[in-house]
Amino acid sequence: DLELHPPQYPWSHAGPLSSLDHASIRRGYQVYKQVCSACHSMEYLAFRNLVGVSHTEEEAKTIAEEVEVVDGPDESGEMFTRPGKLSDYFPKPYANPEAARNANNGALPPDLSYIVNARHGGEDYVFSLLTGYCEPPAGVDVREGLYYNPYFVGQAIGMAPPIYNEVLEYDDGTPATMSQVAKDVCTFLRWAAEPEHDQRKRMGLKLLMGAVILVPLIYYMKRHRWSVLK
Ligand code: HEM
Repeated sequence: DLELHPPQYPWSHAGPLSSLDHASIRRGYQVYKQVCSACHSMEYLAFRNLVGVSHTEEEAKTIAEEVEVVDGPDESGEMFTRPGKLSDYFPKPYANPEAARNANNGALPPDLSYIVNARHGGEDYVFSLLTGYCEPPAGVDVREGLYYNPYFVGQAIGMAPPIYNEVLEYDDGTPATMSQVAKDVCTFLRWAAEPEHDQRKRMGLKLLMGAVILVPLIYYMKRHRWSVLK
């Protein structure tokens, strides 16, 4: 295939002992909510998942309450709407895949819950895709409704460039340059795909520290025990 291979970016969570940048996860959620969620679902995320990760319980409750959730049936068999709760899942932009395709020239925006695990290159790929739109090279024609992107398989993608400088204003005042926005949403997507990320690395560190003590001790005991046979 002719698509570009994404470079490896120096993610702050890349090292074997490095945790995710939680301020970045928080900004990334803001990007998802204000930009990506217009077209992409994240059906495996509930508002409660944000608690203690990117938001306080109060904040997550407030965010959930802004969503109108269809519930029911009630005692009389009627469906009704109510404000969202922490236990509700993120709302979906479209009722079904057909509606999603209709709104996007036939292309289907994939669910983003596990996208950085589902695509080769993970967050390097998604970052490159988001920031990599450009003019097609001379002689290359892109069909109506598609956009040239050298990182996408086939180089023509059905997603219009979703981000640009100042596409949104961050609540925490961070300048929302295109690369900052892409970085934050990718960090958010990494967390979503791997919520156990920090825990996994903390366990790794504990295991390492335990081994540093135990391995020499066991070695010494083995030498001691077998010394009579020398
Ligand atoms: C595809 C991310 C915003 C419509 C994709 C893909 C990713 C992605 C990772 C999959 C590419 C692949 O298959 O390898 C994002 C992010 C967004 C965002 C992080 C926000 C920053 C949007 C918006 C729309 C949209 C606002 C609609 C206006 C689509 C469509 C596809 C797609 C239609 C399928 C493209 C195709 O298969 O040709 N997006 N997206 N996206 N996105 Fe987005």
